[in-house]
Amino acid sequence: MIDHLYSVRMRSARHGKHVSGAERLVSAGAIDGTVHDLVARAMNKEKGFDTITIQVESLGNSPLRLLSALDVCSLGIQDYLTGRAAALRLLQGAGVGSMAVERAMELIANGASPGGGNMRGAMIMDAQTGERFEPETDRGVRVSRFDWTPEAREDAGRTLSRLGMAHYRTPEALALATKVCNAPGVRAELCWSDDPEYTAGYVASLGMGYVRFSFLKKAGDEKGGRAIFVDRGSFDLKSLLHYLQRQPVLINAVGVCRNCDGGDFENNLLRPVLAE
Ligand code: COA
Ligand code: AMP
Repeated sequence: MIDHLYSVRMRSARHGKHVSGAERLVSAGAIDGTVHDLVARAMNKEKGFDTITIQVESLGNSPLRLLSALDVCSLGIQDYLTGRAAALRLLQGAGVGSMAVERAMELIANGASPGGGNMRGAMIMDAQTGERFEPETDRGVRVSRFDWTPEAREDAGRTLSRLGMAHYRTPEALALATKVCNAPGVRAELCWSDDPEYTAGYVASLGMGYVRFSFLKKAGDEKGGRAIFVDRGSFDLKSLLHYLQRQPVLINAVGVCRNCDGGDFENNLLRPVLAE
């Protein structure tokens, strides 16, 4: 049985700019230790901080959704252009039009907020035309109230580390993508980080799972972002925003995780996606 849960959220900032953020869904007994871990994480960031903000909030009677994590496939590639080309093919296979993918990639690469900077959240885009639906184009939508169960977190950490994905970002991004791809009307997601040191990125959908590329951008590039592709006919913006931002989701099982090479990509990843 799952205890009453609390959302514990941390964000830190320096010179008025966001530096780091993380969140957990935990029972009352784990709040103390979680706050400690999240504060330690903010303090360990090289960029430092002026403020660390912690919020602890009871989830009340919000219905909890339990999900299994997307399967994971990690593709080691040599450069970001190869990564983006492979990401485009996979997204097309998942039913996202090339116009939408190209628009998303161009926006993320150049800064998708109106001033040309990074957004504070994700774009929501028509999966065919790339039209944007998020209410504020500088903020976007921030996916929140999701986490692993303690057992699944441990399993995910162990499994991903064994495959060479030991970075703390991978299980967090996998959890976020799992929540996103399980939303009604969502076809797929594309992401690369705005951290200049972190070149990896991913595409994800329910059908293809979470496909990680070692490069979706050049090292040193400060631009990054997320695009959530939706089917115009089968999504409702208000419900989607509520689900992504407020609906608590706990991930209680790890999927099949593997590394894949070029042949594996063509035969086992792209072909089944195209056949869907
Ligand atoms: N980039 C820039 N600014 C951010 C930010 C981000 N990623 N996250 C928060 N902020 C700043 C903004 O100024 C924001 O105001 P806004 O709503 O007008 O944009 C302000 O902080 C408050 O944000 P809010 O989301 O209300 O704070 P919160 O304390 O409830 O939650 C986070 C903060 C960072 C924990 C949450 O937004 C989040 O991103 N959770 C997911 C974390 C995660 O696992 N990410 C995985 C990525 S691999
Ligand atoms: P990150 O992986 O944390 O470097 O984030 C990459 C990009 O995703 C950021 O530049 C934001 O545009 C966006 N983003 C950050 N946090 C969230 C979130 N919680 N939900 C959706 N998008 C986010």
